[in-house]
Order: sequence, then structure tokens, then C-alpha cells
Amino acid sequence: DARDSRAPAAVLVTRPDVPGRDAVDGLAGDGWSLVWEPGRPADGHALGGRVDAVGAVGVIALGDDPLDARFFAAAGAAGVRVVSLVAVGHDNVDLAAAERAGVVVTNTPGVLAETVADTAFALVLMARRRLVEASDDMRAGRWAGFALDGWLGLDVHGATLGLLGYGEIGRAVARRGRGFGMRVQHLARPSAPDDEVSSAVGWEELLGGSDVVVVALPLRDGPGGTRGIVDAAALRLMRRTATLVNVGRGPLVVEADLLAALGEGRLHSAGLDVFDGEPRRDPRDPVMRTPGLVVLPHVGSASEATRVGMTRLAVRNVRAVLAGQPPLTPVTA
Ligand code: DGY
Repeated sequence: DARDSRAPAAVLVTRPDVPGRDAVDGLAGDGWSLVWEPGRPADGHALGGRVDAVGAVGVIALGDDPLDARFFAAAGAAGVRVVSLVAVGHDNVDLAAAERAGVVVTNTPGVLAETVADTAFALVLMARRRLVEASDDMRAGRWAGFALDGWLGLDVHGATLGLLGYGEIGRAVARRGRGFGMRVQHLARPSAPDDEVSSAVGWEELLGGSDVVVVALPLRDGPGGTRGIVDAAALRLMRRTATLVNVGRGPLVVEADLLAALGEGRLHSAGLDVFDGEPRRDPRDPVMRTPGLVVLPHVGSASEATRVGMTRLAVRNVRAVLAGQPPLTPVTA
């Protein structure tokens, strides 16, 4: 065992590039030694080996780290007590394995909802009003002068906004919709009845009766799960003049079905901040080239203040669990 028995128990951070790093550094003042990993861990086995090697009792991790059964088996055996995500989405976490290993998992809800909603609305405007295409054309010298029929898009104000997902992010998008003079509706759920901002409607009405559909759901597998919830059948229910935006997780939307709908003119436009398989960087990738599709590299929560707020909440969760207190924002299966 290469571990130095005199070293204080460690908190391992899976990446070096954490905004709000001073909040993390504060853990050293509590007596924990900090270990900053140089980059994205290769797999759960490798990350599990690292927490064992450094004697970690806490791990600060991201929404795309491999927190699978192999990781938790090693982490539990090594004495890790908490895995604190700097993310709200936790589809990368094997929660059953965490529970078996006795490791508490926490995430960062709340602090990022407004910023992600801003991003969703930006995508709505960019896609529906063809703003990226117009900007690209101008930068490429293709602006011949004011043209009454140039880059005509579809209005956002006065349109109907449908929300697939009416949690804290969906509700924040809904408020923006109302500010834009939109009629707002969301998919009815026992936890999401009608309210003063949005009406609860069924699946067909949500898809068929909305001009803009924003997906803000968590990715969940299994029965009643959300993987592939926007597939060819769902897209067929949508209006030809509609815009689809996804700020949840890539696999919520069946990408091939979306590209087919756009390619065949069955959908006006789409905006994606998340993809099935990230990062995407091949310029020949159809998502880079499909007309009507606006793409962003998973920047939903990427404002300076929000990323610092996420880090601070993640640190508070670590601190609470290591002090034997309940976490502020635990993830439960
Ligand atoms: C989140 O917070 O879930 C973001 O998508 C980053 O993982």
C-alpha cells in the first residue's frame, strides 16, 4: 500500500478546471487534503483505483464522469463517504451501486435552473428566427443589402410553448415564455398540475398543439423512462412549423429521427445543447451541417456565476457529509 498513513484523508476532484476553485480550496482549511486529477478519468475502474490510491473520503465529480458499479465497488471499499456532483443531471451515476457501497451521492439542483432556461430560450430564438444562419452569412460576406425577404424566420412572441419536463428548469423556461407573450403548456404529471403560468395537457396536445417544444427532462432508463422519448412517432405529432429544443440530455431525442424530420421538412427547426455521445467535433457529422439545426456544446449552465454557485453547493454537500450531517441536496434513486 503506497498510501502515506500520516497524510490527511483526501477529497479528490476529478478535473482541474473548476470555476470557484477557492471554494474547493476551503476544504483544505477543514483538514482534508485536496487531490486534483489532471483530466477526465478513463473509466470507472481507473477512477476507483485513484480514490483508493489517494485515500479519498470524498469525491467531487462531474455529470460525465464514469460513476458506475466498478467505481462504487472500489470507492466503497476505499472508504469514500460522498460523491458530490457539480451537475444536476446524474444519469452517469449507478445509484444502486452507490447505495450498496454506502456512498452518499449529491448534485446541484436549483442554482443552475435560471441559467439553463436562458440557454433554452436563446436556442428557441436562434433556431426559430434563423439568427445563426443570418450571422454566419454576414460573416461570410453574403449580405447583399437589406432584403425584405432575407432570412425570414417564424415569430416566437404569440406562439405556443410546450414543455416536456416541468421541473425547476421547465418552470423557468415557462416564465420566459410568458414574458415573450407566449401561451404556455406542459405535459401533465401528478407533480405538475395547471398553475398560473402554464396549463397541464396530454402528450398529443403538448406535441401537436405547440409551436415550440422545449425538452427539459432528466434522462432515465427503464420502464417509464425518458430515453428516446422524442422519437419518430413524437416528431410526427409535431407541427411542420414547430421548433424543438433540447437542454436535458442528448439521448432524450432520437437524433436520427430528428435529422430525418428536419431533412424532410416535417419540422421547421431545432436547437440542441446536448448530444448522444459528447463531445461531437467531426465537421462532417450531420449535426454540424443540417439546415435548420442550431447546435451548442453543452453550455446550458455555463455562466460564470452559476458555475461558481454549482461548485459552492457541491463543496457544501461534501462538507456536510464528512461532518456527519445530512447532505443539502442528496440524489435518491
Ligand atoms: C448538469 O448540471 O446536469 C449539466 O448538464 C452538466 O452536467
